[in-house]
Amino acid sequence: MTEREKRVQWIYSSRDNKELAERYDQWARDYDEDLEEGFGWLGPQRAVDFLVRYVPREAKILDAGAGTGLVGELLAKQGYKNMVAMDISQGMLEEARKKNVYQEFHQMVMGEPLDYPTDSFDAIISVGVLTVGHAPASSLDELIRVTKPGGYIVYSLRPDVYRDSGFKEKQSALESAGRWRLVEVSEEFQPLPKGEPDVYHQVWVYQVV
Ligand SMILES: C[S@@+](CC[C@H](N)C(=O)[O-])C[C@H]1O[C@@H](n2cnc3c(N)ncnc32)[C@H](O)[C@@H]1O
Repeated sequence: MTEREKRVQWIYSSRDNKELAERYDQWARDYDEDLEEGFGWLGPQRAVDFLVRYVPREAKILDAGAGTGLVGELLAKQGYKNMVAMDISQGMLEEARKKNVYQEFHQMVMGEPLDYPTDSFDAIISVGVLTVGHAPASSLDELIRVTKPGGYIVYSLRPDVYRDSGFKEKQSALESAGRWRLVEVSEEFQPLPKGEPDVYHQVWVYQVV
């Protein structure tokens, strides 16, 4: 196992949110190099490719689990200017700040109540965050609450996590309850083709009702 692969295992072995945040704080400076050069991280680009189909350039967008801001950088290249970065890790947010693309930075925990008023955002994007040991399926309730009716929620998810960690049931329940409607879901793709070719993601696009 390479040093980079060991670092990812170390992140995923965190026992609670406090430890997870501390470990991301420590990883923050090396994250971009590890993910982009080491793993060939394609998650941000694939999710942004979907978001641009639906979300106008003047939209206010929450990047939930923004990390070091790789998603924000790509959104800025597409002409988006009104973006908020939120993450559990202050260290990751400090790296995101250096990208000069977000207007605001907030440390918050997905899975807990978010400190935003209802209907705050036109869209939310969340890449590599809704997963085991990170943000649980129950996070989706708050993401919907803070998105305006008619707004979009775009996120990446591993198919096995969708099946086995409560997302399938949660996503369907929210649709049955008339909280959101499924717009589209992508084919499975390899988001980490260099480092973890066995991992697959899909991009989900929902519209809040
Ligand atoms: C794999 S990184 C993805 C970062 C960025 N979205 C990207 O695509 O490069 C996961 C990010 O989610 C954050 N995170 C993990 N659990 C979280 C939670 N419950 N609430 C908010 N952020 C969380 C981590 O601190 C980390 O920055």
